[in-house]
Amino acid sequence: MERLEALYEGKAKILYSTQDPELLIQYFKDDASAFNGVKKGTIVDKGVINNHVSSHIFKFLEGEGIKTHFVDRPSDREMIVRKMEIIPIEVVVRNVIAGSLQKRTGKPEGEVLPKPVLEFYYKSDALGDPMINESHIDVFQWASPEEVAFLKETGHRINEVLFEFFKKRKIRLVDYKLEFGRYKGEILLGDEISPDGCRLWHWDTNEKMDKDRFRFDLGSVEEMYQKVYHLICAGE
Ligand code: TMP
Repeated sequence: MERLEALYEGKAKILYSTQDPELLIQYFKDDASAFNGVKKGTIVDKGVINNHVSSHIFKFLEGEGIKTHFVDRPSDREMIVRKMEIIPIEVVVRNVIAGSLQKRTGKPEGEVLPKPVLEFYYKSDALGDPMINESHIDVFQWASPEEVAFLKETGHRINEVLFEFFKKRKIRLVDYKLEFGRYKGEILLGDEISPDGCRLWHWDTNEKMDKDRFRFDLGSVEEMYQKVYHLICAGE
């Protein structure tokens, strides 16, 4: 399957049309950005790692009965995905206090939450992905109440299986972002699940192995992405 027209170029990926009107190719770049595009850089081989890690996780989730846009990974940087109508909501699930939840609550980073927190953000680069609630989603018709119920239930279900998946691989799944889309009357999990959109800490040492290393200049960025790749995809 060939890449045809570039339909959309984001910070980390390009979406191409293909000969099949129902399928797209998601192409993973090494470009990195943070703080809504204020900080920019390159993480060598990030695209390859994120594609491999995401594909591995999508296949695992499919096996757990969670429907995703994943079809195939024909090359190191290409993922064939189903062409969905994107729901403009980012679902963030948190197991441990970090990032903006730490800032909003003043609670110590690293404190384990008594149960997972699920939040919604409006997917808008221009606005910097502001946090929203169910009332906003309803009034602005970003998704129906039934769809919101599905996003919450699926977010929690994904968290249950992913937390254990990562734990078995010595990684603490601190928090992460999920995106969904509509496809033939169903809602599928989309985008990617990789160190770019997750906080991943080593289970024993709490070493940060995700994009926070780039965001906050913690060093060893490539090394940590490689480490996650090996912990997730070993034996693939
Ligand atoms: P936050 O602590 O900055 O709100 O982010 C929570 C998690 O969700 C973190 O793992 C990063 C991820 N995330 C994204 O990747 N993109 C986004 O636009 C948002 C809001 C969160």
